[in-house]
Amino acid sequence: MLKAGRFALKEYDGFNRRKVGLKSKREIITKVDLGSEKILLTSLRKNCPETGYISEEAGSKRRDNKAIWIIDPIDGTTNYSIHNPLWAISVGLAVKNEVVLGMVYAPALNEFYVAEKDKGAYCYRVSGSKLVNRKKLIISGVDHDKIIHTFCHGSSMHDLQVAMKYYKYQKTHGLDCRQLGSASLELAYVAGGRVESIMIPGANSYDVSAGALLVREAGGRVTDFFGKKWTLQSKDILASNGKIHGEVVRITRKL
Ligand code: IPD
Ligand code: CA
Repeated sequence: MLKAGRFALKEYDGFNRRKVGLKSKREIITKVDLGSEKILLTSLRKNCPETGYISEEAGSKRRDNKAIWIIDPIDGTTNYSIHNPLWAISVGLAVKNEVVLGMVYAPALNEFYVAEKDKGAYCYRVSGSKLVNRKKLIISGVDHDKIIHTFCHGSSMHDLQVAMKYYKYQKTHGLDCRQLGSASLELAYVAGGRVESIMIPGANSYDVSAGALLVREAGGRVTDFFGKKWTLQSKDILASNGKIHGEVVRITRKL
């Protein structure tokens, strides 16, 4: 991941938005998504040849049903393309359908988030090829009137409409609600107590698997829009500091 991060960061400064391609009407792709993915998959094939993967651009290769890497080589490509530093490389490892390792690396912020199941969640700085300055991630406990919600959405019109209804509800009820543009980092921000929640209708597993574990391991709650435990098969995801979860589910269940 550090190598992929170095590559993405090298391209970042001089990146020209005219180089962006279109995967579909609402989805963009750049040579940085493909280059980062190539570095990650080459390393995984060499070091973990027995383990399958699902990766946003390359698709999936399943070798058995026991363990699988879940990869987004650049999460927040639009942010990347406009020189907004909120973009990340997201890698999760699921064993028997359960995420046991989650890593979200934001090179332009120099933040490397890691969670292992039952072992907590941490944020490191990267110094050369080392992870230094370990800080434990703990979800926030701010008062009600200071709460900040975040949201993003999948690519279908339905996902977009659900997200818009949610945004309208929160804003018209006097609450702060923002789209930061990188699902994995928004989850890392919930884990680190920078914001209180993130909701995503139509979430892709590669955008959220690593971040979901960060939130759980930092003491937060991760469910679908009805408050049922989030799994890799869930269509939607709601992650929060736990304290406000019920309050948000009361909104998301009606969307
Ligand atoms: C996107 C970002 C965005 C979210 C989209 C994702 P990408 O990831 O996470 O915040 O709204 O649903 O697809 O395309 O930049 O990897
Ligand atoms: Ca991506």
